[in-house]
Amino acid sequence: MNQHAKTGAGLIAKSHLLAFVFFTAAAPLLARDIPAFYGQVCANCHGKNLEGAQAPGLLKPELFKHGTDDVSLARSIRDGYPTNNMVAWKMVLSEAEIRVMVVFIREKQEQFRRGQLTFPKPVDDQIVESKEHKFRLKNVVAEGLQTPWSLAFLPDGRMLVTELPGRLRVVKAGEPVGEPVAGTPSVRARGQGGLMEVALHPGYASNGWVYLTFSDPYTNATGQVLGLTAVARGRIQGNRWTDGEIIFRAPYSFYKPSDIHFGSRLAFDGEGHLFFSMGERGEKDNAQDITRPNGKIHRIFDDGRIPTDNPFVGVSNAFPSIWCYGNRNPQGLTRHPVTGELWEAEHGPRGGDEINWIRKGLNYGWPVISYGMDYNGAPIAEGTARDGLEQPVTYWTPSIAVCAITFYSGDKFPRWKNNLFVTALAQQELRRLIVDGHQVVEQEVLFKDIGRVRYVANGPDGCIYVALNGPDRIVRLEPVAK
Ligand code: HEC
Repeated sequence: MNQHAKTGAGLIAKSHLLAFVFFTAAAPLLARDIPAFYGQVCANCHGKNLEGAQAPGLLKPELFKHGTDDVSLARSIRDGYPTNNMVAWKMVLSEAEIRVMVVFIREKQEQFRRGQLTFPKPVDDQIVESKEHKFRLKNVVAEGLQTPWSLAFLPDGRMLVTELPGRLRVVKAGEPVGEPVAGTPSVRARGQGGLMEVALHPGYASNGWVYLTFSDPYTNATGQVLGLTAVARGRIQGNRWTDGEIIFRAPYSFYKPSDIHFGSRLAFDGEGHLFFSMGERGEKDNAQDITRPNGKIHRIFDDGRIPTDNPFVGVSNAFPSIWCYGNRNPQGLTRHPVTGELWEAEHGPRGGDEINWIRKGLNYGWPVISYGMDYNGAPIAEGTARDGLEQPVTYWTPSIAVCAITFYSGDKFPRWKNNLFVTALAQQELRRLIVDGHQVVEQEVLFKDIGRVRYVANGPDGCIYVALNGPDRIVRLEPVAK
């Protein structure tokens, strides 16, 4: 597939139709990088930063004359307003490129909007007055952790915390961090990989099983260390990992050299099944290929066996643990506390971070459809929708770098009950989403810019616990009486 050549040729063929001076021999290359194309072409009228020049600015959606939703915006660009000096850009831009232009305008609008707003940036027990509840951020573990990635509560109130470089620790709030648990699986700690998720079996009180996901190293014949997401379980006795076993490990032929897109989260359904997510490891087309494990949500039994009612069991060559496919890099996975539904969050490319309602056997579209563009400003998907491919519950364009998600199930913040809490790495946000069925009806940024927000969990005390990276710490949202 050589989109580059195709679009370039199309542009040359069509450009003679236009009396525009902008199109030179270099134009086909520029057309690939849509933000650059904006700068070369659209900026002449709409301003370099979309602030407006001889034509109206594009930063303030409320001032648009012809509609501000994605469909109207694409229509304005596609068909133009020729009698008013706005060209019909369908002569020059493909549908996919028009979509990327919409994404680019959204990026700029959002940057502008954020520039006008101030968000809570709580420090040192400062009180935050959010919409429904006042809260305070309290340090639980302020020192001694390196890139805390996930946490889980033991029945005695202590926490298990994973650190991406490969350590699992048992941590007590307010006490110094001690030695890591000895004997956990060795990991390929490179890039986005390492020791990732930790979760307790729902029957932990009687069986003691602790589950981990990690990037599993494999050294091939040429000495190259490849990696893929694997799942282990074990028990912790005297700060040692005991009875350890790998319950999911794909054949080494599927291991990849890249350092990106491992996933990975765990979710139990309380009926003996364990779901886990695996990113596509940077090979996007693999997400559509059900003979491969990457770019999928998987379902296994809690001991690693494959349920025979998985959707692709018995399908020739299919990877039998696959529950659904077409997922890019899912770093959020959680169950709704009331409905039991499985919800997922996945990183999009430049734009197109998604929240999905995960169901058996469905295709979530990556990389065929996406609300984002490639990092280099080129189209990456054919469009945003296609029959047979699932739409997200919601998406963020520009991306926030969505990570862990969890529904609040505690009682300390009654008006937050069953709201979806969403973490963001790049935008450094904790968001609260009000969800009605499978629709997001409202979003609130609870705090911003105090570090990359990696993980969010319900504490046994009804407080919300958050793992921050940079500075690395664990904080708790505590209610403050009104
Ligand atoms: C030659 C000047 C010119 C260029 C170049 C130009 N536009 Fe426009 N554009 C206009 C004018 C003038 C309008 C207002 C038309 C109207 O409201 O009837 C407009 C309107 C629009 C609108 C609709 C705004 C609204 O109020 O609803 C969008 C979106 C837009 N342009 C995007 C673009 C993009 C993207 C490009 C580059 C691919 C571009 N324009 C290039 C002159 C230009």
